Amino acid sequence: MADDTTDTKSSNQMWGGRFASGPDAIMEEINASIGFDKKLFAQDIRGSIAHATMLAHQGIISTDDKDKIVHGLNTILSEIESGNFEFSRQLEDIHMNIEARLATLIGPAAGRLHTARSRNDQVALDFRLWVKEELQKTEQMLTGLIAAFLDRAEEHAESVMPGFTHLQTAQPVTFGHHCMAYVEMFGRDRARVRHAIEHLDESPIGAAALAGTGYPIDRHMTAKALGFREPTRNSIDTVSDRDFAIEFLSIAAIAGMHLSRLAEEIVIWSTPQFGFVRLSDAFSTGSSIMPQKKNPDAAELVRAKTGRINGSLVALLTIMKGLPLAYSKDMQEDKEQVFDAAESLELAIAAMTGMVRDMTVNTARMKAAAGSGYSTATDLADWLVREAGLPFRDAHHVTGRAVALAESKGCDLAELPLSDLQAIHADITDKVYDVLTVEASVASRESFGGTAPSEVRRQIAFWRARN
Ligand code: ARG
Repeated sequence: MADDTTDTKSSNQMWGGRFASGPDAIMEEINASIGFDKKLFAQDIRGSIAHATMLAHQGIISTDDKDKIVHGLNTILSEIESGNFEFSRQLEDIHMNIEARLATLIGPAAGRLHTARSRNDQVALDFRLWVKEELQKTEQMLTGLIAAFLDRAEEHAESVMPGFTHLQTAQPVTFGHHCMAYVEMFGRDRARVRHAIEHLDESPIGAAALAGTGYPIDRHMTAKALGFREPTRNSIDTVSDRDFAIEFLSIAAIAGMHLSRLAEEIVIWSTPQFGFVRLSDAFSTGSSIMPQKKNPDAAELVRAKTGRINGSLVALLTIMKGLPLAYSKDMQEDKEQVFDAAESLELAIAAMTGMVRDMTVNTARMKAAAGSGYSTATDLADWLVREAGLPFRDAHHVTGRAVALAESKGCDLAELPLSDLQAIHADITDKVYDVLTVEASVASRESFGGTAPSEVRRQIAFWRARN
């Protein structure tokens, strides 16, 4: 589908009535959007069929002309789908490329299609339909990612790993609990997607250039035919609004930020130093010089794609921020940002879903790491509060001394002999060793939303029912 870039200087056949000559080559180049908005062909044709059908129903065009238009548009649809359509840059955009072809196919009846509409409401419609479908796809993909995490969480509800703050070992947690943190994050993303679908579910067609139209159109009929809840209420806002695209990009940026944090964790976890997970061959790459290497390239690229998505969001916000109402041609620059972000987001979700499903979890490494770094110090302090009646602040101080002693001896808290512990506080008994293991530590944290396996299983059941 090569662009036709011949530079004949005839005036534009769609709007050139008042023009004596055609555009300069540079004008044509800066003006044309067909290179990217050809992606909207299916939406454009659907929109035109709904519009023509409504025009005929309202007696604005004849049924005969409507039939010709619909037949011609369906022919064009199959031509484009089969790669037998020649896109022309001279015809600027997808709307005029299709309409020009329609004229060739069906003759003068084609000229009646653009009654009571403008490219301003037409592009708003096509783009909204495209973004709506992309949001629906995103919702499904997020559901797949959530399902992958739920499965891993179930499998590892009891697997102990170190929990971190400041990337320093903090307290033992379960890997299942950590997976469920991502379920919460992607669950919020999915909720945002669902809200965005509700927000954009209004049909722009019929707003015309900006002021509505004098023809007796039925906007409720086209809205219904195109699967929208209702028509938009203000024609000026309708052709000047790109909130739906900005909302998509905001959601993509937030989801991208989540995906990127996950990617960063996978990069860290898969280093030989951590060794918490091993990526499958399917989701890693080798080095051309260092034969031992297995690189987490997909995770790194997900991290990078997030930067791109953020760029698209900032670009579109900046494009829109200075525009007076209603439509300005600046708005033509909305599409590439959204298309690029959508492609990045889809790839990022798909890659992370694959990695999460495929990676091997090294529970022995996780458990060993969970026990190091005095991760059960809080459990010792809590034991002193519970069993010896100390105020928490005093228990904290006593525990700090035990940690310092263990550190000077180069051993774990659980390896300190009872006599050492009793020298720090006389009320400590050998029962204390029960809480110093990582398993006892996680099992005790049964508070709502806590890391205990029983609680993690409850949260998994909640999300399985919610899906
Ligand atoms: N290609 C244009 C866009 O993407 C279509 C709308 C053109 N409208 C106009 N009045 N020039 O925004």
